[in-house]
Amino acid sequence: MAATTYQGLEVLYSRQQIAERVAEMGTQITRDLNGERLVMIGVLKGAAPFLADLARAIQADATFDFVAVSSYGKGQRSSGAVKLIKDLDESIEGKNVLVVEDILDTGLTLSYLRKIFLQQHPKTLRIATLLDKPSRRLEKIEADYVGFSIPNLFVIGYGMDYAERYRNLPDICIMGPGHPE
Ligand code: IMP
Ligand code: MG
Repeated sequence: MAATTYQGLEVLYSRQQIAERVAEMGTQITRDLNGERLVMIGVLKGAAPFLADLARAIQADATFDFVAVSSYGKGQRSSGAVKLIKDLDESIEGKNVLVVEDILDTGLTLSYLRKIFLQQHPKTLRIATLLDKPSRRLEKIEADYVGFSIPNLFVIGYGMDYAERYRNLPDICIMGPGHPE
């Protein structure tokens, strides 16, 4: 029987599995950086726990910045339109940038962010996503670093929400099949 949380939710990835995978991703990112500096850009709010853990698994001179976008309403259907509601604090021109996201789903959010970040001419622009749902893709975009590739499930916990709830669950849990309509 699958493990469940105190709320009776089915666990997809436990905190231990997440920690092990995040450590591996950190090692790979550290290696690819070759001793250079890094700007980590978190996509609020879902990526906050992942960014906090990933940053501590990367051995480099790193700074943080955050953006916020609106694409989904209260955990419901995507409008398809992505809007920047909080911009970067600092310029990323000439910097090594790592965009940190919780889930790469349709790809609308990261395609939009990649486009506006590239306009600032960073030295490098890479994407790290904890989860990838390739079957849901509408835009052609892949992450450079993927924690786990998953089927079309709606997941919550470790930053991810349903109507703003469950972000603080330490494990990644299954809310139900597919994206809620
Ligand atoms: P995309 O623009 O469709 O790639 O959307 C990415 C965003 O949708 C993620 O950053 C999440 O905020 C949200 N999202 C997509 N799938 C899920 C899910 O299974 N659980 C919670 N949020 C999700
Ligand atoms: Mg998100």
